[in-house]
Amino acid sequence: MKHRLEIETMGKMKVAGPQYANGEITISGSKNSALPILAATILTDEKVILHNIPNLADVNTMIEILENTGKKVTWENSTLVIEKGEEKINSILPYGPVRKMRASFNVLGPLTIRNGYAKVALPGGCSIGVRPVNFHLEGLKKLGIESKIEHGYTNSKFTENNHQKKIHISLPFPSVGATEHLITTAVMLKDTETILTNCAQEPEIVDLCNFLISMGARIEGQGSSNIKIYGTDRLYGTEYTIIPDRIEAGTYAILGAILGGKVTLNNVIEDHLFSLLDIFEKLGIHYEFKNNTLIVSGISKMELTPVDVETSTFPGFPTDLQPQLMVLLSLIPGRSSITENVFKTRFNHVDELNRMGAKIFVESNTAIITGVTKLSGAPLEATDLRASAALLIAALAAEGETVINNVDHIFRGYEKLFDKLEKLNLSVEYFE
Ligand code: EPZ
Repeated sequence: MKHRLEIETMGKMKVAGPQYANGEITISGSKNSALPILAATILTDEKVILHNIPNLADVNTMIEILENTGKKVTWENSTLVIEKGEEKINSILPYGPVRKMRASFNVLGPLTIRNGYAKVALPGGCSIGVRPVNFHLEGLKKLGIESKIEHGYTNSKFTENNHQKKIHISLPFPSVGATEHLITTAVMLKDTETILTNCAQEPEIVDLCNFLISMGARIEGQGSSNIKIYGTDRLYGTEYTIIPDRIEAGTYAILGAILGGKVTLNNVIEDHLFSLLDIFEKLGIHYEFKNNTLIVSGISKMELTPVDVETSTFPGFPTDLQPQLMVLLSLIPGRSSITENVFKTRFNHVDELNRMGAKIFVESNTAIITGVTKLSGAPLEATDLRASAALLIAALAAEGETVINNVDHIFRGYEKLFDKLEKLNLSVEYFE
C-alpha cells in the first residue's frame, strides 16, 4: 500500500450542495500527538513501536526527517516501527522537510542532547499567523543549549556543565510546541530536575509524557500547568498507542451539526471535547456520548441560539476548531462572535465564507457573525489545514457548486478523508 502522500501540485475539490450527512466513521490517531512523539524517538537507539499512527502528509514529513537523522522507519498498517539505522545519529538536517513543517523544529533539542550539536532549519508551517520560536530557544538555553541563527538555520550546541542541577523555566505563554520541546530535551539531562511552569496542558502533552514514561522517563504534573522532569542519561525502547485526534473528531462533529441527519463518531475521548460540547449545549445542538462514541444529530438552524465564543489553550475552546465553528455560527439566526486569543490573525477563511454569502466582519481579533439562512456555492481559495476543512463543510452545506482551490492542505490533518466522507453519505470530486 502506497503510504507516502507527497504534495507537489495543489489539487482542487468540486462540491455540489447542499448535502446531508448520515453514517458512521472511526476517528484516526492524533496528528498533534504523533509528531512530538516521533521527534522524541530520537532519544533512544532501541526499537520503538507506535500504534494508531495516522497516515498524513505531516507524519510522512516527520518520517523523512527521522530517516535523515539515520533512523530506519517502517509502516505496518497504522503502526510505525522505528529502529536505529546503520550510521551514528546525524544531527545536521536538510532544509526542505523542516521548512515544510513547524513541528519538525522539536527535533533540535533531542538531537543536540544526543550529539552535543545540531543544525536545523527555522520552521515554516501554515499561514495562521506569526509563529516565532523564541520560547523554545530561551528555554533550551536554560537547559544548557546555546543556539545561533545563521542563513535560516538554527545552530545549537550543548555544554554538559553549562546548566544547573535544578532548573526552573516559566513560559510567557502556555505554548504547546515549546512545552513539548523542553520536556523532550529535559528528560535526557542526567541528574537534573527541571520545573516547567505556565506550560501547556493539552491532551497531546499528556500523551507525549506518557510515551516518555513508557521509555523510562520520570515526569510529574502532565496535564497541569506545572510539570516536573527528573533527567536521566538513558531511555529504552517501547511499544505505545497514541490517543485519537480530538480536532478531527471536533471537525466531523461540527459537520454533523450542520449537515446532519445523524453522524456517529467512534474512538472519541469525551474529556478532550468538553469545550465543544459545552458550546453545542448552549447552541441547542443534540448529541449523545457513550463508550467513546459521539452521536450528533443535525436540527434546523432556525431553532439554534447564537453564542459568543473565545478560543484559548486547553481546556478552553481550541483555535484549531475555530474556522469550522465559524461555518456553523454563520448559519444560525442572530449575532454570534468568535474571539481568537491564540493566533490573533487566524481569519484567512473569513473572506472566503463571505464570498459564499456569509455575513462576517473582523474587528481586531474578534469575528462578528450575523447568521444567514443559506450559503451559496462559489470558487474558493484554501490557505491552511483547518481553513480547508471549514471551506469543505461550507461547500457541502451551500446551495450550488463550489470549487475549492489549493485544497491539499487538508491532507496534512485528515486521514482517509474520501473514505470517511463516503461513509457519511457525502460526495466530493477531487482533481489536480
Ligand atoms: C500547536 O502549534 C499545534 N500544532 C497547532 O495545530 C495549534 O494550533 C497550536 O498548538 C495551538 O493549540 C501541533 O501540535 C503540531 P503554540 P504550536 O506554540 O506548538 C506563540 C493544526 O492545525 N509562540 O502553542 O506551533 C505563537 O505564535 C496546528 O493542527 C511564541 O510567541 O503552537 C502562538 O501565538 C495549527 N513563541 C501561541 O504562542 C514561541 O516560541 C501558541 O503557539 C512559541 C509560540
